[in-house]
Amino acid sequence: MQHEYPRNGESTHPSSKKPKLSSKFITESDIRDEFSHHQQRVARINNGSYGSCPNSVLTAQRHWQLQFLRQPDAFYFNVLRDGITASREIIKDLINADHVDEVSLVDNATTAAAIVLQRIGRSFAEGKFQKNDTVLMLHCAFQAVKKSIQAYVTRAGGSVIEVRLPFPVNSEEEIISEFKKSIEEGKSNGRKIRLAIIDHITSMPSVVIPVKELVRICRAEGIEQVFVDAAHAIGSVKVDVKEVGADFYVSNLHKWFFCPPSIAFLYCKKSTSSSDLHHPVVSHEYGNGLPIESAWIGTRDYSSQLVVPAVLEFVNRFEGGIDGIMKKNHDEVVKMGKMLAESWGTNLGSPPEMSAAMIMVGLPSRLCLDSEEDAVMLRSHLRDRYEVEVPIFHQVSVDREEGVRDKDGFITGYLRMGKLAKCFIRNEKAVIKVGAGFHGITSVFCRLLMRAAFTVFKESYKRGAKSSAEELELLTNVI
Ligand SMILES: Cc1ncc(COP(=O)(O)O)c(C=O)c1O
Repeated sequence: MQHEYPRNGESTHPSSKKPKLSSKFITESDIRDEFSHHQQRVARINNGSYGSCPNSVLTAQRHWQLQFLRQPDAFYFNVLRDGITASREIIKDLINADHVDEVSLVDNATTAAAIVLQRIGRSFAEGKFQKNDTVLMLHCAFQAVKKSIQAYVTRAGGSVIEVRLPFPVNSEEEIISEFKKSIEEGKSNGRKIRLAIIDHITSMPSVVIPVKELVRICRAEGIEQVFVDAAHAIGSVKVDVKEVGADFYVSNLHKWFFCPPSIAFLYCKKSTSSSDLHHPVVSHEYGNGLPIESAWIGTRDYSSQLVVPAVLEFVNRFEGGIDGIMKKNHDEVVKMGKMLAESWGTNLGSPPEMSAAMIMVGLPSRLCLDSEEDAVMLRSHLRDRYEVEVPIFHQVSVDREEGVRDKDGFITGYLRMGKLAKCFIRNEKAVIKVGAGFHGITSVFCRLLMRAAFTVFKESYKRGAKSSAEELELLTNVI
């Protein structure tokens, strides 16, 4: 008999009705179809910010949306809760959690940070923590998370210790050593470190952090709770929450796990999850436990939380499933990064094994990238003029003597290369396009741009030169 609505864990979207492709892996042409909605000419080397959702998952999402619109009450009473539970069960298995109650679905990593940090804020407000007790985080923690600390912790009387991330970084030991130094500082004057926030993969610059080792150090040092911000993790590194051992662990599923925007899971270790954690948006389910609170935060579209079974079907069409995709993305991005670093005579921001699906590649010093503003400008220029989308990091050099040099000077800028592997979008073309983006369309232009350096480019950008011919003319005038 045909059920009108899916039972718990049962997927009814159209793609699930196709014969399963267990004996036959996805083909190049299937992949092209799956991502045919991507803007064609753009070299999108920034999968890290928003991810990529394939057509089969978008179809499944549409199916859930229509099901809701057809009979909202029946959907609310008979379908929604079970559908979300089915997604949580899948995630529980993927991340090796003990129990589905440890897994809540929320909109994004920012929401998860609010959940954890509001709880810390309440502890200050209710006098459980002393004024100046502290929260420890990496200095390159994601800006939204830093702002959340400011809003929920600092305003409530807490202080913050920042751990400097060495960059470029050569080994995990360099990070571990900085981390230990900051813990010492945090504990000075009798202060207590109430929470450590550790990125699993930092956003900018992007580096895979030895999170398991840092959590172990936190435990040994008596730090009460650890929150791992792993916004980029699932689908780009192996996630085993038991092995990591933190109290809280969040990862977006819309970055590297092919979900539509937006969905993240927040894992809360059983011992911690029973305590006072709440969704920042309070609704009917307040007080019924975070997973249930999060599953209804008022009328809205919950479809992105319901498509996890469809996403699993998608990734399982690849050889090796999500592990195979992870490996391919990593191998390809390392190859791309090495190719560019070699051709520019620069360096990678970390050894390949400290990168996952994103890698930092030094830009030639001749570009004279002097500020954050320059980085934003160059990024916009590459988007507007060359259809290359790539994040650019400006390296603030504390001591120029310590910086990394290429043959002309200190390297002050890095690209964050991170895109889906070759099978998704023609990778080499994207690399060539990046090269072209910096070097100009022709080699003459390239030579001029490099010789004239970034100051000229900035001039051209500010004046709003409309074409590369105009840009070339500007450059020629200066040289
Ligand atoms: C390390 C890190 N934390 C948090 C976030 C915030 O993610 P979202 O905007 O999905 O909340 C990001 C986004 O890129 C991130 O890289």
